[in-house]
Amino acid sequence: MHIPVLTIDGPSGAGKGTVSRIVAKKLGWNYLDSGSIYRSLAIALQKTSVDLANVSEIVKVAQVMALEFECGDELIVKLNGEDITSRLGLESTGHIASRIAALPDVRRVLLQKQQDFRQAPGLVADGRDMGTVVFPDAENKVFLTASAAKRAERRYKQLIEKEIDANLIQITREIEERDRRDMERKAAPLAMAVDALYIDSSEMTIDAVVEDVLNLIR
Ligand code: DC
Repeated sequence: MHIPVLTIDGPSGAGKGTVSRIVAKKLGWNYLDSGSIYRSLAIALQKTSVDLANVSEIVKVAQVMALEFECGDELIVKLNGEDITSRLGLESTGHIASRIAALPDVRRVLLQKQQDFRQAPGLVADGRDMGTVVFPDAENKVFLTASAAKRAERRYKQLIEKEIDANLIQITREIEERDRRDMERKAAPLAMAVDALYIDSSEMTIDAVVEDVLNLIR
């Protein structure tokens, strides 16, 4: 049976997660937050104190980690039975995730785990290489971006709302550094699929982006 896929790729902070979740809910489709798989591996590595220069050990951890996703109103992720949701969003987790995501062997191991999410009646997949590498045959592809300044501002507001200490200049610097690493790596760099719809959300509301994405599917 053919299962439709909508891919939403773009840099961190462009609103992919929020938009993907709303669209998946409206369509009644499954949702893959592929960044959370890289983030979960980052946490698994922190727990086992594997040296980030030791690629074969990292690959071994990736092969044996057991992940469970519970997609309710909020995504709950369990690693080897333990709820790691509260650690997923940490900057330190994202930083390690971005480093290990540059390793081709790691990406190869995680490929099948991501493709397994393609289940009826359909899938919304959010990440960096969903439309280019993981689901190249997806019939609907979106590349969602926003200026680095806007993305930093959104991230800053999120942290302040959660009463977490934040520094806008530092966040902007970290976002630019992560963009550079995600775009310049050789293995599946962040890039727009040739057949993707380009959306710049810098001056758009979430509702407007969701509408554009749903129009694409219709
Ligand atoms: O979307 P995110 O910030 O949760 O992703 C964390 C890191 O994982 C990001 O810096 C790059 C990597 N990643 C990736 O390489 N490919 C994906 N499809 C998703 C995330």
